[in-house]
Amino acid sequence: MNKTESITTEKKTHIKNDLYLRALRGEIVDRPPVWMMRQAGRYLPEFMAIKEKFDFFTRCQTPELASEITVQPIRRFGMDAAILFSDILVIPQAMGVDVEMRANIGPFVPNPIRTKSQVKDIQIPETKEALGYVMDAIKITKELLNDEIPLIGFAGSPWTILCYMVQGQGSKTFDLAKEFCFTETEAAHNLLQKITDTTIDYLKEKVIAGADAIQIFDSWGGLLSPTDYNIFSWPYINQIVQAIKPLGPVTVFGKGCWFALNEMSKSGASALGVDWTCSPKNARYLSGGNITLQGNFDPARLLSPPEMIKNMVHQMIDEFGKDKYIVNLGHGILPNIPIDHAKAFIDAVKSYPNS
Ligand code: CP3
Repeated sequence: MNKTESITTEKKTHIKNDLYLRALRGEIVDRPPVWMMRQAGRYLPEFMAIKEKFDFFTRCQTPELASEITVQPIRRFGMDAAILFSDILVIPQAMGVDVEMRANIGPFVPNPIRTKSQVKDIQIPETKEALGYVMDAIKITKELLNDEIPLIGFAGSPWTILCYMVQGQGSKTFDLAKEFCFTETEAAHNLLQKITDTTIDYLKEKVIAGADAIQIFDSWGGLLSPTDYNIFSWPYINQIVQAIKPLGPVTVFGKGCWFALNEMSKSGASALGVDWTCSPKNARYLSGGNITLQGNFDPARLLSPPEMIKNMVHQMIDEFGKDKYIVNLGHGILPNIPIDHAKAFIDAVKSYPNS
């Protein structure tokens, strides 16, 4: 039996609150489900308490810590889905490229990939071994969640991973990553394919370990022109969608990628994420009106007074429509969001349609 068969024949466990999975299937619901990108993060005091004691990748690599951090926001706010605490950059690490998390810089790659021969030397790992700690974290988290809500597993898009591997750190433009794609095009495609193959294997293992759904983060897709997006990002995301969709629902979130919603909607992804620069009406129009959409509250709007947050969330649900819709932010929650404002966001969805 190959990997795909062994998963699809496996019996799925029963999730008590399956609102998120139902929205992914496009079913009619009383209210849409809600979770927040980066919901396990620095705005939570209990997260900061763990962060003080353990560095970033220790938190990722210690299953007991990763699973505890994953359920922290659920205990506090009761979202309809949990997302595993980890990072998209565990993939380059597994491929043998060092990634550090430096204070005031963020992700940092001491030896970035800049040449053909570096790409040639990169190995495709056995993710089951190299990233076994992620699979262990999933298993422990599933136990902690006790089938109350689904668990989302995730990966970065190959383009977004390449951005960090080549640029070496975060950037407003990722110009060095683009330069590599535009001047060493063959090597760039080889690298994108190696990341894609690793990611597919990794996500299959995540589903086997217990992830109920998968999200792909293309955080920097919107830095590419629509033409370049179709060369350097979408074909690789699409390969991942095709490989994973027989195993479970896949959401594709492309920050700034509203121009690709139509193409994405034809891929068989279960849902598409949108950021706040695209109106709900336009997102429905561009995505063909049939696919589940996720988003798109401006994360900085959580700085508004709680009463205003509630009104804006209800308006957002009215604009997207309650069905085929997953309430979320348009990108990750910011570290300076007050706890009661995050709570107002979640509670507004749970009280919908009553004001
Ligand atoms: O959503 C969740 O709660 C799950 C956890 C999660 C993290 N990273 C934890 C994290 C997820 C889904 C990610 C994905 C991720 N990581 C993306 C794609 C999503 C996005 O926001 O665009 C990207 C681009 C990364 C790379 C990365 N990791 C960045 C840019 C940073 C921030 C650096 C900084 O200091 O601001 C990280 C670190 C990181 N990953 C943090 C968290 C909670 C904060 C740092 C810390 O906890 O010490």
